[in-house]
Amino acid sequence: MCGIVGYVGEQPALDVVLSGLRRLEYRGYDSAGVAVQTPEGGLAVAKKAGKLANLEKMLAEQPLPEGTVGIGHTRWATHGGPTDANAHPHVGGAGKVAVVHNGIIENFARLRVDLAERGHLLTSETDTEVVAHLLAEATDAQLAAGSGTLDLAEAMRGVCRKLDGAFTLVATHADAPGVVVAARRNSPLVVGRGEGENFLASDVAAFIEHTREAIELGQDQVVELTREGVTVTDFHGNPGEYREYHVDWDASAAEKGGYDYFMLKEIAEQPKAVADTLLGRIDANGSLTLDELRIDHSVLREIDKVVIVACGTAFHAGLIAKYAIEHWTRIPCEVEVASEFRYRDPILDQQTLVIAISQSGETMDTLMALRHAREQGAKVLAICNTNGSTIPRESDAVLYTHAGPEVAVASTKAFLTQLVACYLVALYLGQVRGTKWGDEIFEVIRQLADAPKQVEQVLTTMEPVRELARSLADAKSVLFLGRHVGYPVALEGALKLKELAYMHAEGFAAGELKHGPIALIEEGLPVVVVVPSPRGRSVLHDKIVSNIQEIRARGARTLVIAEEGDDAVVPYADHLVRIPQTPTLLQPLVATVPLQVFACELATAKGHEVDQPRNLAKSVTVE
Ligand code: F6R
Repeated sequence: MCGIVGYVGEQPALDVVLSGLRRLEYRGYDSAGVAVQTPEGGLAVAKKAGKLANLEKMLAEQPLPEGTVGIGHTRWATHGGPTDANAHPHVGGAGKVAVVHNGIIENFARLRVDLAERGHLLTSETDTEVVAHLLAEATDAQLAAGSGTLDLAEAMRGVCRKLDGAFTLVATHADAPGVVVAARRNSPLVVGRGEGENFLASDVAAFIEHTREAIELGQDQVVELTREGVTVTDFHGNPGEYREYHVDWDASAAEKGGYDYFMLKEIAEQPKAVADTLLGRIDANGSLTLDELRIDHSVLREIDKVVIVACGTAFHAGLIAKYAIEHWTRIPCEVEVASEFRYRDPILDQQTLVIAISQSGETMDTLMALRHAREQGAKVLAICNTNGSTIPRESDAVLYTHAGPEVAVASTKAFLTQLVACYLVALYLGQVRGTKWGDEIFEVIRQLADAPKQVEQVLTTMEPVRELARSLADAKSVLFLGRHVGYPVALEGALKLKELAYMHAEGFAAGELKHGPIALIEEGLPVVVVVPSPRGRSVLHDKIVSNIQEIRARGARTLVIAEEGDDAVVPYADHLVRIPQTPTLLQPLVATVPLQVFACELATAKGHEVDQPRNLAKSVTVE
């Protein structure tokens, strides 16, 4: 949430900062702003409510002076509405210092009162503005003490020690030319190292066109950026530890590549994302080699419970993982939305394996859940797509998904790769604990290896789904039904439709419908039904065929997703979408794809911006 950029170098800072913000706009699009150090030794600030395009238009009409040091921000509003006044940067010290912020400063109200008592005039409703004024006070105090030079990093450290909450802060000061400083606590911040230039951002995407050399910072650290170098300390000025890494994707991966929307591109990338996530995880003998898990086999053998924590789409991946984990390993598995987890005092101990699933690796609810789990002695395994992010860093082990950067707010390729990672973990547990024979594991791996081809096949047959979606643009509501692993797929289909098309959509376990929700069925109501394979557990299939008949008898218009060769559903399907034959547990890999396409097309037909749905942002870094 909120995208942050900082730059010190030789290029025009405004160009670098704006292009970085363009790549980070998925993190928030309520307002945007920039500040640059001017050649005359001042700061120039511009900010505007609404999307980045509004700011760019304003800058085209009223250009800022050129400078080579700058900061920028794209906002997802928390404190104060999305207005010009609440947009970042916020300034203090009569405009000498500018600050951008991601996160929430929990003690801002008290700090604000104190500042007002000391004569500061705060003009916005944000929590961020207090930081600008505190920094101005600290730098004024340095100058008054007669040191002559201004140490902005030291001022930032002092301010951070006064703050509660989660924050990434980036600041620049007119009297510290050539310097940008930043601080982080529980909120994302990465450094990009260039030649004669350095970068700061919420996400490497912001500077990937300039450098692929990045630094992962630790918690409670302050970083000072100059053209010559990067200095990292803790909040007390002690040298800080950090990890340098090379980003393994390039700028083209974070561009639309000819597609109208990132979401369309990311849906199309799913076969490759699934293949990449499987790559290198199977050895020559057909055994799984997840050495990167870094959890001792003896520990994995002792596990007596698995708990999965995640949010939104990642939570749905967790729901599907439960079926695979329990079936293949016979270890009881619970799945819980991360935001509820720690508040109910869950029962955890050293024999519990907690799996935290997150695309961004920064979701605060998931981070807090995993911290709670570790405090209780549980081992935490992260399934994550973002190298260098906080969730894997704070976990005992990590299995990275290799989806590449996911820019559209609605998660698609990350979901499919999360499923693959969950299947791999479940099989690995089965392998280590001996609950599955080697040849059984090999058979599932072989089936998983077919998934990229099968997803590709689904993608080539989506035109009727798009046509159907367009015809439903005026529907008031769409229901989604599934059984077994099809139930979380139904939930995911409904979530996609809600967030993109802003229409009422709900997913139900098909058997649960008759316990209440069937009352919603009325003439012509579109109901999407995810049908399990008739070749697997035929009882599941037969039951859902009865459920389809029940809703059809009450007037529902049935949109049936069923595998090739399943003829039993034909008489009851008003619209039939075919998916390739897969084993029951793996069906979500193919059954989810038509639902993604459906939601994307329906939202487009309604004229919505599918990459940036209203009120949402990717990477939710507040609780
Ligand atoms: C929905 C969506 C969200 C995320 C959720 C968790 O399309 O993208 O529901 O899945 O916010 O995000 P991560 O996976 O980054 O923890």
